Parts: sequence; structure tokens; C-alpha cells
Amino acid sequence: MRVTMIGSGYVGLVSGACFADFGHDVVCVDKDQGKIDKLLAGVMPIFEPGLDELVARNVEAGRLRFTTDLPEGVREADAVFIAVGTPSRRGDGHADLSYVYAAAEEIGRALTGFTVIVDKSTVPVGTGDEVERIIREANLDADFAVASNPEFLREGAAIDDFKRPDRIVIGSDDARALAVLRNVYRPLYLNKSPIVEMSRRAAELTKYAGNAFLATKITFINEIADLCEKVGANVQDVARGIGLDGRIGDKFLHAGPGYGGSCFPKDTLALLKTAQDYEAPQRIVEAVVAVNDNRKRAMGRKVIAAMGGDVRGKCVAILGLTFKPNTDDMRDSPAIAVIQALQDAGATVRAYDPEGHEQAKKVLENVHYCDGAYQTMEGADALVILTEWNAFRALDFKRVKSLLSAPVIVDLRNIYHREQVEQAGFEYTAVGR
Ligand code: UGA
Repeated sequence: MRVTMIGSGYVGLVSGACFADFGHDVVCVDKDQGKIDKLLAGVMPIFEPGLDELVARNVEAGRLRFTTDLPEGVREADAVFIAVGTPSRRGDGHADLSYVYAAAEEIGRALTGFTVIVDKSTVPVGTGDEVERIIREANLDADFAVASNPEFLREGAAIDDFKRPDRIVIGSDDARALAVLRNVYRPLYLNKSPIVEMSRRAAELTKYAGNAFLATKITFINEIADLCEKVGANVQDVARGIGLDGRIGDKFLHAGPGYGGSCFPKDTLALLKTAQDYEAPQRIVEAVVAVNDNRKRAMGRKVIAAMGGDVRGKCVAILGLTFKPNTDDMRDSPAIAVIQALQDAGATVRAYDPEGHEQAKKVLENVHYCDGAYQTMEGADALVILTEWNAFRALDFKRVKSLLSAPVIVDLRNIYHREQVEQAGFEYTAVGR
């Protein structure tokens, strides 16, 4: 199959490289010449474990190409995936679809022969209808069908998620489009990954409903964690106790400082906007968004309380800045609100993240970035773990104690056992335990 990805960002690049690995002939298109130059030189524009090796292997095999020339990429394709960004529109939180629509128009003008246009970008219900209209307007004779195929990739685990998905969702009522997409995904189908076919609108909504449900699950356990602290229970026990019920499931029940990233915050807001437009309020999701927003700054207050209630003139060592491990992404990371709350209360902040410094510098001011975990702790009055990178899971507590001015550890990701840390002579604060 000849597959073209429009947009070589996170989703387009990972999906394109994985499709090539399935044996398809793939072209990744991007308007950004700098990004394409980098890719042609074998340099990845994003940090994702395993991606450079996957790209190199498929480029070498001649199955993966990069170009800025959209018409060239579209002309021969069986399937053209739109994988451009849909950021939150400034002001109202709606998804900004200008990149999707611009791509649709250009694709329309370049179409020859029957082609399936697939929305992979996260787009509100009804976007497929508009994409179809735009393509038709740009090319009255075009032979095409528009389908929806949302992605469910987690940053840091994207390749594995692509190759071993829980399911593939395809939204289309067009028999020819379904035949092409079944072929594109055949290797996964053979691998027994369920392919769920539905209407285009149902597929578009599935993406938002899935992310909103996961955000709800996290927020639910975070509030239960707060209650655990009040009643003297351990949220990890409660999470295990409910998670083993097959109807609930044990995933996404880790209490922490609140969800962040490029998807949950943006997609929950966009779902609320769609709900408003269609007068079908989503009150649970509204509550989730509000509770999660409050939580991030509340985690700053939790650190201040652990440090005795007053942090003026004190120094806090932060381990982990990105919204989760194995990414350099700082978008809506809880670290931003926590650090700002600490700074507002008069503390100075030293921080270390294995991958996040470059992005963190764009959103956080007056932070002293250190070269390693232990350097961060030198002379600090408390150690705060904000992201659960593996490198932070086995700290040498003797060394930590000798470096910190006060033996205070705040573990906002629950990566340590209380007894272990207290036996090493620290005051230990965790989440919901
Ligand atoms: C999320 C979804 O998991 C993917 O399925 C989806 O494709 C993607 O959004 C998207 O829409 O593109 P991602 O944002 O990469 O993926 O990250 P997650 O691993 O889902 O984590 C999101 C946030 O929730 C992080 O801040 C994480 O720390 C937090 N989280 C996650 C918790 O606090 N507790 C948990 O139990 C799980």
C-alpha cells in the first residue's frame, strides 16, 4: 500500500515509521523545511524511545521518505493521513482546525485516482464532514472518501502502542475506504488486534470520550487519595482493591500531582466546547477539568506544608519536570504550577530532568537547572519528586542526606516505600498514603 502522512510531528512521524515497518511504501510530508532537513539527515525532531532506529531502518530499506512537496506525496497514495496539530484555540479552548482544513484543501487539489483521506489528528465531531466538503470544493471531479482513524499513542511508549494496540478504531461507511484501511492495518489484524469499525462521527467522538474517561479515572483516584490522607488509608491499597475488579481495571489509577501533557488537558476542554455547542453538557468532565487544575497548585502548597509552612528564603530541589517520564514534553506539566507556587511563596528552585531542560526553560523562569539528580540536592531544604523517571527510583539515601540541608522528601509520584525512606532518616510525604 502507498501511504502518505501529512504532518511529520509526533503522530505523523511515529505512525509513518510504523506503517513503513509493516512493509508499506510511506511518504511523510511536512511544511517545515527545517524539520524535513533534519529527518533527511537522520535527526529526530522529537524525543521518543526507539524512533531514530525505526526511522533509519525503514529509510535504508527504501520504504520511508520525507518531503515538503505535498502534491507529490498525495498523487500516488492509496491512503493519505492528516496528522497535523489541533492545538487549543486561544481564547475559547475549541480545537483549532485551521491546519486540518488547509491540509484538506491542498490534498483536494492534488488528488488523482481513488484515495482515502484519513483524519488521524484529534478532531471534534463533524470535522470529517467539513474535510469532505473542502476537498470536494477544491476538486469537483475527485474520487475519494474521508474516514476517521484516531490515534491512541502515549508519548514515551508510542511505537509499542502503535504496534500492539488494544484496538484500532476506523470510522467510515464507505466500502472502498474500509477495504483500503483494512489492508493498511492488516499486519495488526493478523496479530489479533481488534479493528472496530463504526461511523465517522462515532470514531471522532471515541477519541475524546476515551481521553476524557482516562482523565476522569486519574482525577477520581487523586480525590480518593486526598480522602485517604484524611482517614489514614493507603491509596495504593485502595487502587489495587478496586482495580482488580475487571469492570474497573487497574490501569490509570496512580495518584499523583494531576494529569498534564499535550492531550488530556486539550481534549477535555475541546470536548466541553463540543458539548456546549450541541447542548449536551458533560458535567463530569467539567468537574474533572476544574479539580485537576486546582490540584496542580495545591501540590505546591503540599510541599510548603511538608517544609514547615514557610518557604521564604528556602531552596527546593526538584527531580523531574516533564509531564511524565520518557518525554521532553513540558506541556501542562504539573511541575509548572508546583514550581510557580513555590516561587510565589518565596522559595528558590533547583531542578533536574533527564530530557526536559530545553522545553522547561521556555515556560519556567528563575530555575537553576542542574546537571544531575544529586547536584540538584546540594544545600536544598527539601527534595521533591515530580516525575517518575526510572533514574530517580533508586536514590542513594545516604548521599541524599549528606547533600540536603534538611531531611525532607516529598514524593508526588509515590515511587518509594514510606518505611524505607523514614528508616533512612527522612521526613517523608507522599500522595494519599
Ligand atoms: C494520552 C493517552 O494515554 C493516549 O492513549 C492518547 O493517544 C494520547 O493521550 C493522545 O491523545 O494523543 P499521553 O498524553 O502521552 O497519552 O500520556 P499518558 O500516559 O496518558 O499520561 C497523561 C497524564 O496522566 C500524565 O501527566 C501522567 O502522569 C498522568 N497519569 C497517568 C497519572 O497521573 N496517573 C495515572 O495513573 C496515569
